Amino acid sequence: MSAGTPRPALILDGLRKEFPHRRSLFGKAEAPVRAVDDVSFFVQPGETLGLVGESGCGKSTLARLIMRMMAPTSGSVLVDGQRVDTLLPSEVLAYRRKVQMIFQDPYASLNPRIRAGDLIAEPLLIHGLAKGAARAARVRELADQVGLAASSLTRFPHEFSGGQRQRIAIARALAVSPRIVVADEPVSALDVSVRAQVLNLMADLQAERGLSYLFISHDIGTVAYLSQRVAVMYLGAIVEIGPARDVLRRPRHPYTRLLLEAVPVAHPRLKSRRREVLRGEVPSAANIRDACRFAPRCPMATERCHIEVPQPRTLDGDRLVACHFAEDTPDLPKGLAA
Ligand SMILES: Nc1ncnc2c1ncn2[C@@H]1O[C@H](COP(=O)(O)OP(=O)(O)OP(=O)(O)O)[C@@H](O)[C@H]1O
Ligand SMILES: [Mg+2]
Repeated sequence: MSAGTPRPALILDGLRKEFPHRRSLFGKAEAPVRAVDDVSFFVQPGETLGLVGESGCGKSTLARLIMRMMAPTSGSVLVDGQRVDTLLPSEVLAYRRKVQMIFQDPYASLNPRIRAGDLIAEPLLIHGLAKGAARAARVRELADQVGLAASSLTRFPHEFSGGQRQRIAIARALAVSPRIVVADEPVSALDVSVRAQVLNLMADLQAERGLSYLFISHDIGTVAYLSQRVAVMYLGAIVEIGPARDVLRRPRHPYTRLLLEAVPVAHPRLKSRRREVLRGEVPSAANIRDACRFAPRCPMATERCHIEVPQPRTLDGDRLVACHFAEDTPDLPKGLAA
């Protein structure tokens, strides 16, 4: 890294998480699930990295590893240059001042018996950050920053709309002034009409505070909205990562291309293209063989893809793609390219 380049806020290096095998219904031992399988990437200060992939590909497991809610099987997580995966339990609380998380379902993540103001005050209390009148003032300030009226702070979570509840969750996350926010499907449970509001709020807060976001979603359209770079995950591994505009305009991994083709198109003239292009279930992460993990579903797969793991290769200067035939991936049909 050159002298002028800022140090990444977050670095993942060869991160792996295996869940031990379970006995199947018939008593047969199954291979361990490789939920996160050799993942390496970085997030720069003030940057949003979007992480996209289908259900079960390991996104939330990756988030939990970064949050130190579980320990990795191997590999490392570095925040501001410090190892996170080796922290002692007694050190985890201090670490959580640097990295906070926003969850998909704000109703499940907020205690229904605690009033909004106390929910926002809780992290300040836990981390011993403000007392008495100073704490109350900080809660009002945070509520104001996320667009919640001070008069609403005495209400309970069920008295808010989904979008407002997610604003409470965002205020809680920001209360400790973190450097990094891991947002795991933060708008997926919200009505389409309030999604943009919450995303815009997140963008504004990022600009004000210089936050780094790891923005996780199964929806590549939502990811594209906020992210400077996009990482595409398939069965525990990153198959493509690069600048958002380039990845969305000209995907190089066939999986990324299929994800983009599967995005419903609103334009009436493009209606005929609205088709189900990603067929088949994601195979089990327990059954990853020595092959390209996407080969069974890949329209471009050849013999080689079934016998040789594609290593990530640099393409177009700043893109990494794990595909033997990335150069041959056809461009998106006209009108679909972002
Ligand atoms: N605690 C656990 N024990 C055993 N297996 C687990 C555990 N947590 C996750 N898994 C498995 O790891 C894989 C990845 O799960 P994960 O929740 O990370 O996926 P995801 O990408 O977040 O999916 P979704 O989009 O549905 O939230 C799945 O196969 C899942 O069944
Ligand atoms: Mg998840």
